[in-house]
Amino acid sequence: MAKKKTIFFCSECGGESSGWSGRCPHCGTWNTMVEETIESRFSSPSGSRSGKAASPVPLDGIPLSTGERITCGMEEFDRVMGGGILRGSVNLVGGEPGIGKSTLMIQISARLADRGERVLYATGEESPGQVAGRANRTGSVRKGVEVLAATELETVLPGMKRTGCSVLVVDSIQTLFSVELSSAPGSVSQVRHCTSRLVRVCKEQGITAFIVGHVTKSGAMAGPKVLEHLVDSVIYFEDGGDRVYRLVRAVKNRFGSTNELGVFEMTSTGLRSVSEVSGYFLRREDAGRPGTVITVVMEGTRPFLVEVQALTSTTRYGYPQRSVNGLDQRRLPMLLAVLEKRCGMDLGNQDVYVNVAGGVNLADRGADMAVCLAVASSRLDKPVRRGVVVCAEVGLGGELRPVTRFDSRLKEVLGLGFETLAGAADDAGSVGGGTEGYGNLIDSMEGLLSGKKDEKGGDWL
Ligand code: TYD
Ligand code: MG
Repeated sequence: MAKKKTIFFCSECGGESSGWSGRCPHCGTWNTMVEETIESRFSSPSGSRSGKAASPVPLDGIPLSTGERITCGMEEFDRVMGGGILRGSVNLVGGEPGIGKSTLMIQISARLADRGERVLYATGEESPGQVAGRANRTGSVRKGVEVLAATELETVLPGMKRTGCSVLVVDSIQTLFSVELSSAPGSVSQVRHCTSRLVRVCKEQGITAFIVGHVTKSGAMAGPKVLEHLVDSVIYFEDGGDRVYRLVRAVKNRFGSTNELGVFEMTSTGLRSVSEVSGYFLRREDAGRPGTVITVVMEGTRPFLVEVQALTSTTRYGYPQRSVNGLDQRRLPMLLAVLEKRCGMDLGNQDVYVNVAGGVNLADRGADMAVCLAVASSRLDKPVRRGVVVCAEVGLGGELRPVTRFDSRLKEVLGLGFETLAGAADDAGSVGGGTEGYGNLIDSMEGLLSGKKDEKGGDWL
């Protein structure tokens, strides 16, 4: 007789609890606990009861698995995956509805089929006709791709066996359910159960799998977050700030780096890799406007030029506002404090808004100098000299600190037609041509903003 149980799951972290609480006892998020009735014939969530004896092997006696990588030919995707898709890996592709996950999957399926793979595209979300329509539109119709319309795990598993596929796409995990559980499709227990079954089968048979999962802000559906620990890599698809560009990044990758960023453009015939990325984050017509500064940051192994904008305006009432977009929220107050204390800039009665164009998130400390200069430039109403890109970390003493990979940043800057990369004195000194080095922030403001101290010989403003 099957046992019935009521359990509360956190839709954010997947943590279980026997009673409801407003706050998840595991991850501390509010309002994410959802009730689920579970009726399972199996005691373990993966449905496995086998207790096969496995004997330990000495570490030096295990043959190394080098792992074959399949390059699908979409450069940006291959790069994010760590130089190709590892055969036998299970990958989760997450993103908001409508961002282009199904489009990416059908295009990759076609490219893998071109390389001799047998692809099974299991769709629970759309009819085979809709999938075929999208494949047609993106030029992805191939013999080697088979479409299976299924929402039951118990249909997908035999389908895999029958087609003898080497690549499996599940679109999406939230529409898949197992008859072994009584909870609704998309619930935490279903999503977890189906994924772990799929992972097990794929690992046993060496099948490469892509599992599509929707991310919703409201947490109405179990997010891919609860699956992250089950899979080899997690790839997130994001909107690049405007409606055309799509950013793809790996937030987890057992077989490669997680800092690579892939850029795609959504066209009328599907997604296209954008390799000339720097240009896209720049709007050259803004150059020469006070408050606009261009910096160069590293995303993985690639330098990107991005525009940092700042606006300062007198506070009308209450506390001064500090608003940041695309930058660590805690970094701005620190940089503003440096500007006040080390550069004598009065920002106490100023609202400060900082915005990074293009939807990139500047985790790179090399952007500090640009943020400071942008704020100073707006406050003093003096533009930064034309043709200059800046890049350095700012220390609490107002000193400029060197950044990593200065030469590859410089190469990108000069390659895009800018004249100078201004940074910390040590960097510029060691590299030479096309660089300008400053020891501290206030010197760089004098050198780059063409702003003079006021007549009284005092501080800025
Ligand atoms: P889709 O892949 O269905 O998104 P998801 O699977 O993540 O929900 O694609 C969504 C959007 O992409 C849709 O609004 C239409 C657009 N699109 C194009 O602009 N060009 C195309 O060639 C295709 C196939 C879709
Ligand atoms: Mg879809």
